Amino acid sequence: MADKTNEILKRRTFAIISHPDAGKTTLTEKFLLYGGAINLAGSVKGKATARHAVSDWMEIEKERGISVTSSVLQFNYDGYCINILDTPGHQDFSEDTYRTLMAADSAVMVIDASKGVEAQTRKLFKVCVMRHIPIFTFINKLDRDANDTFDLLDEIEKELGIATCPINWPIGSGKHFKGVYERGSKEITVFSDTEKGTKEGEMREIPLDSPELDEILDYGQKDKLMEEIELLDGASADFDQELVDKGELTPVFFGSALTNFGVEIFLKHFLSMTTPPLPRKADIGVIDPIKEDFSAFVFKIQANMNKAHRDRIAFMRICSGEFDANMEVYHVQGDRKMRLSQPQQMMAQERHVVDKAYAGDIIGVFDPGVFSIGDTICMPGKKFAFEGIPTFAPEHFARVRQVDTMKRKQFVKGINQIAQEGAIQIFQEFHTGMEEIIVGVVGVLQFEVLKYRLKNEYNVDIILENLPYEHIRWIENEEIDLDKLVGTSDMKKVTDLKGRPLLLWVNPWSVGMTLDRNPGLKLTEFGRS
Ligand code: G4P
Repeated sequence: MADKTNEILKRRTFAIISHPDAGKTTLTEKFLLYGGAINLAGSVKGKATARHAVSDWMEIEKERGISVTSSVLQFNYDGYCINILDTPGHQDFSEDTYRTLMAADSAVMVIDASKGVEAQTRKLFKVCVMRHIPIFTFINKLDRDANDTFDLLDEIEKELGIATCPINWPIGSGKHFKGVYERGSKEITVFSDTEKGTKEGEMREIPLDSPELDEILDYGQKDKLMEEIELLDGASADFDQELVDKGELTPVFFGSALTNFGVEIFLKHFLSMTTPPLPRKADIGVIDPIKEDFSAFVFKIQANMNKAHRDRIAFMRICSGEFDANMEVYHVQGDRKMRLSQPQQMMAQERHVVDKAYAGDIIGVFDPGVFSIGDTICMPGKKFAFEGIPTFAPEHFARVRQVDTMKRKQFVKGINQIAQEGAIQIFQEFHTGMEEIIVGVVGVLQFEVLKYRLKNEYNVDIILENLPYEHIRWIENEEIDLDKLVGTSDMKKVTDLKGRPLLLWVNPWSVGMTLDRNPGLKLTEFGRS
């Protein structure tokens, strides 16, 4: 029992969010380097896999079969057991990326110091805010010329609406980057050569008032630093763990993942400030990770692209208790007892079968087609269901038709199954029935996936016709009469898989206009699953 509690308490499960190229992969590699999980940084995933073009994607997916590699990495560091959830980059960006955040207890936001807040960071940040999880900021690439530090903080506060609390402060940037000033200890940490980040650097700490500092810093840097510290101490929010826990204050760190500057300092602070597995809401109340027996929910389903193996992998986040591969569990939505087949976990780069896992961990199990996103797995004696995973607003829409009209049945079956797995969302035009199917996706790659899978798994060729809609809202007060709704000329009324009404628009301002024209109408960006 004590063992189980210890195991759970040392878990830290988080996702790293960033705009592509801000340095998420590099930072992950450096974390693994400190965790001793790899010797030489640079091998989390082959660059070829990380940077493939859309056209290569199918081949890659076929070669690797089911890609577990990109889902979660586990390693130990400083007494903690760390689970990093991967949120794929722009090519792979899909609803899965958002769902992954539902499995995390906190998020690390990586920002490129010369670019500031970028589009994808903004999108992922929104989901973190919805969940009220702690968000930590690592401002990266200080070894390159960076934007003004105060401007960067200002941008985060204004654009993302979260207060910032710098834990350290960069001294210079680019060629003049000397290290970071630790506000708590009032010491400067200077760094030595890390051979371009391939080995752990030796850190040296020098008090702010040490004469040695004058030798290290460039002319004028000390004065600038002193000024900035004064300004900072007067203007910035104090560190407040409670606000961090609620996701209202983000601790900010500076560094350079490529050269290791500031990475370990960040990791240490982050681990001490972030949370062990959080309790989760279920229909019977809040499920405590330690007190309750095993429970988990499915947050991602990955279909096997290989036709010979139709099975899928369901990724589950363990929310409470201890998982033992031999035990019998209960699948709530399927209403049946089962043993989870071949549960797997990732340890650094290796995938292995697990015997035991704990709250906070992610396991992938073979799924013969029984699981859906959001399903709960618990112990047979105690049945309950976790709150569902929201449906996230698609950003790209297309009308889809099958080439051969004789294949209607396969087409409808295929597209429905793929939608149930959560790879795409399908909508019907209001009043027109199944004839017209509109597909919505979060990332355009999903259109390719749909085309490929319908062809390969269901032998159906389709034609996709892009639609100009970019904005979508679910109607919260579903009792509203859709026929009477006064919309804009660019608005389309549709229903989703479950018959719920939605509205699509081409122009962003039409959303507000529709609200103005229909008093009492309530719209939401996240659908209920
Ligand atoms: P991502 O996962 O967020 O997409 O970013 P990734 O880590 O792959 O980094 C994107 C590019 O930025 C890479 O360069 C990487 O080496 C570089 N980078 C990451 N962190 C830093 C940093 O602290 N300083 C500097 N100067 N560069 C950084 P690339 O040229 O695209 O790839 P590579 O050929 O160098 O591997």
